[in-house]
Amino acid sequence: MSQVPTARNAALDLIGAVLRRKRPLDDAIDENVSMHQLSGRDRAFARLLVATALRRLGQIDALIALCLSTPLAPRAAAVHDILRLGIAQLLFLRTPPHAAVATSVDLAHSRGFISHKGLVNAVLRRLSVEGAERVGEQDAARLNTPDWLWRSWSGSYGEDTARAIAIAHLKEAPLDLTLRDDDAVWCNRLQGTLLPTGTLRRPAGGSVAALPGYSEGAWWVQDAAAALPARLFGDLAGREVVDLCAAPGGKSAQLAAAGARVTAIDRSARRLERLVANFARLDLPIEAVVADALVWRPSRPIDAVLLDAPCTTTGAIRRHPDVPHLKSREDVARLAVVQESLLRAAIDMLQPGGTLVYCTCSLEPEEGAQRIETLLEDGAPVSRWAIDPDEIGAESDWITRLGDLRTLPCHFSEYDGVDGFFCARLIKRAAFA
Ligand SMILES: C[S@@+](CC[C@H](N)C(=O)[O-])C[C@H]1O[C@@H](n2cnc3c(N)ncnc32)[C@H](O)[C@@H]1O
Repeated sequence: MSQVPTARNAALDLIGAVLRRKRPLDDAIDENVSMHQLSGRDRAFARLLVATALRRLGQIDALIALCLSTPLAPRAAAVHDILRLGIAQLLFLRTPPHAAVATSVDLAHSRGFISHKGLVNAVLRRLSVEGAERVGEQDAARLNTPDWLWRSWSGSYGEDTARAIAIAHLKEAPLDLTLRDDDAVWCNRLQGTLLPTGTLRRPAGGSVAALPGYSEGAWWVQDAAAALPARLFGDLAGREVVDLCAAPGGKSAQLAAAGARVTAIDRSARRLERLVANFARLDLPIEAVVADALVWRPSRPIDAVLLDAPCTTTGAIRRHPDVPHLKSREDVARLAVVQESLLRAAIDMLQPGGTLVYCTCSLEPEEGAQRIETLLEDGAPVSRWAIDPDEIGAESDWITRLGDLRTLPCHFSEYDGVDGFFCARLIKRAAFA
């Protein structure tokens, strides 16, 4: 049945794409024809609706279970999604109850679930009366966090910190911008807050391209924690840096803006195209190469390599609430193998005395500290160069006992948090050392 392109119709397709076809939300949005036909406002609402339902999925599903005596059959999966979106509106987005209920019933009708209209109506009406109280009784942090992530974070950081991380995930992340220069001028024009790490922060929402300075290339979007690794090379003026796994290019842009000659490697041509477009807007020079970093090698050994390795992205759940519903323990183990191979390739590219900065936006130790420990235990020709928090305006508790950077979403809570990032800095030893 062809659907009228409305925000709620698009949201229903998107949540199904994430939860059943396991598509990342941003890719599902790109691939969704209706999303391209909607106005900017409706598109933003559709995204917010799906993101809220995914962010609160544990709570929402517990409420649905409370209202249904038997679970919905698999063929009524879309009805379950209609309820999820309806509850997200009712209880977390402050949509007036009559609108949340009526549009959800209409959605069930338009998708051919005529016999389920009464059920959708009854569940949402009941929750419009008692839902707020039920939500108040829920353990939101625990319910919205899959068991494997809760166990991983409790084991690595302690239960209190696991809870603080999960609480940080309940809120949408702010908009972080990395400024090229003239911090005071742009801070004023963009009406943001300059964080101690140098990032300019604004509340989330609105069109990024409509902000002052976008077309002039005065800044680019980059989380405050993501902006730290590229600053660990010291003075970059005139130096050559290879950025492996570079797209869409936030860190490459920092390196180039600091005066480095950057070679950006990424195996995804589509993502590298975005990097090249970003660099054109920023009017920064770049050599972009589509290649597999495991195979590609520079023409001669290099002084500085940045490796922002592919990872489960569990540090960026605030920005990507689809991640807990897409990733699993098996992905951590699979990606750890990839990260290890990429680390060895990166070391292979370095000249003695050269610097390797390794980072991932994961909270899982297997993708961070454990990778570096394994590398060092196996005798790889590198040593840790401990990070000093003052180098990057970081707080002292972001640096581990061994000198790595370990940010958590609950850090910087007075400013509304940061992404969870791990970063280690290594120096290549001389062959005879
Ligand atoms: C975490 S993202 C990089 C983000 C980027 N550094 C930034 O700051 O904007 C990881 C990237 O690694 C790329 N990638 C994954 N495996 C790769 C490989 N073997 N060789 C090159 N690039 C790879 C992916 O295409 C993806 O663009």
